[in-house]
Amino acid sequence: MIKPDAVENGHIGAILEKITAAGFKIVAMKYTQLSVRDAQEFYAIHKERPFFGELVEFMTRGPIVSAILEKENAVEDFRALIGATNPAEAAEGTVRKMFAKDIAENAIHGSDSDENAAIESAFHFSGREIF
Ligand code: CMP
Repeated sequence: MIKPDAVENGHIGAILEKITAAGFKIVAMKYTQLSVRDAQEFYAIHKERPFFGELVEFMTRGPIVSAILEKENAVEDFRALIGATNPAEAAEGTVRKMFAKDIAENAIHGSDSDENAAIESAFHFSGREIF
């Protein structure tokens, strides 16, 4: 997901360019907005964290771009491309270093395992939206 902060700041095009230049193939994509219930479900694993309320509020405040990406070693390579959760700790040239404000409004989300990538893909897309 390209998160609401990055969308608001006009970074969709630049982020997609970095993603495709890094060799990822976009097999599904949509411009959409999460409801509160959607965000609570998507981030259910974080529901006991102190930042959960703030996270749901942030993720629902405006549109996002969600996408499914394909590549060899996609999860690890995408996490390298986007950088650390906290942009202050993200490597130079990563998406979060370039476009994120802080640990909460961090521009982009990437799945942390193949298993979660499958779950998160099914959350955003139906079978006939995946190519
Ligand atoms: P993401 O990679 O999408 O996974 C969980 C999200 O919670 C994370 O990016 C941030 O947007 C948010 N997050 C993680 N840690 C914190 C924190 N300490 N304070 C506020 N938000 C956080």
